[in-house]
Amino acid sequence: MRHGAGENTPGTSGYDAELRRHNEVLRRAVGVQAHDHVLDIGCGTGQTTRQAARKAVAGSAFGVDVSAPAIKRARELARADGLGNVTFEHADAQVHGFPPEHFDLAMSRFGTMFFDDPVAAFTNIGRSLHPAGRLVMMVWQARERNEWDVTIRRSLGAAAEQPMAGACEGPDPFSLADPLTVREILKAAGFDDVAFTDVHEPVYYGPDVAAALGWVRGFTSTVEALKRLDAATATRAVERLREALAAHLTDDGVRFDSRAWIVTAQRSRAEHNRA
Ligand SMILES: C[S@@+](CC[C@H](N)C(=O)[O-])C[C@H]1O[C@@H](n2cnc3c(N)ncnc32)[C@H](O)[C@@H]1O
Repeated sequence: MRHGAGENTPGTSGYDAELRRHNEVLRRAVGVQAHDHVLDIGCGTGQTTRQAARKAVAGSAFGVDVSAPAIKRARELARADGLGNVTFEHADAQVHGFPPEHFDLAMSRFGTMFFDDPVAAFTNIGRSLHPAGRLVMMVWQARERNEWDVTIRRSLGAAAEQPMAGACEGPDPFSLADPLTVREILKAAGFDDVAFTDVHEPVYYGPDVAAALGWVRGFTSTVEALKRLDAATATRAVERLREALAAHLTDDGVRFDSRAWIVTAQRSRAEHNRA
């Protein structure tokens, strides 16, 4: 796993910079309207929540995240932006008691892949949507289609392949990569019209190799993998990582190829009638 509960706080300028190209694609796909009430799931420090709030001038945006520091920062940033229609809550989206049938749109930028029970979580989120309310989320495609993950894991060697200490499987950023699985999960959770759009944009790790190395060394997966190695092996792994990042230095900073899905769905009207 990379950005979950690690040393890099998601949504700080580094994370927003990493995903700048993805963010533009997601923003267009979400298409927030002036009267929309928007739920941002796993909002981190809330860049996407603030964006939604700016568009929903006669509506609102509500961000939830299980990370208390991220929510604290999200509130500070929204206050600094002078946004009056955005609120944040430190909450687990899987079980949080959202107001029923309140939101027009539930959205997420890489914040929905970490649920213990995805069907229960998306059912809970679905209940908070108006009938025919929309879900728009960005999730990673398969690990092997993401050059950043392949390269980092290869650099870190066998230590990167082991499961997280103390967890059976650990949170998996690729858990929603398979369209068939996602379709089944969302259908079981009461969503219809599930569709996938391929997003093929690079991630950005920094203006130079030193900055990129600092950023990637903060990923939870990197921290955990390095902890498992003795000092000499860890030093060699970091050197391999540095070389891999140097090989991806472009005129536009350190970039890696990536593949994501934008998944869209609608809360099923049948589900609404049953509720
Ligand atoms: C990869 S980060 C993305 C953050 C944010 N969406 C962004 O793009 O800046 C994933 C986020 O999901 C949050 N998260 C994971 N499981 C969650 C849950 N069950 N409920 C709410 N947030 C969750 C994490 O704390 C983390 O902030």
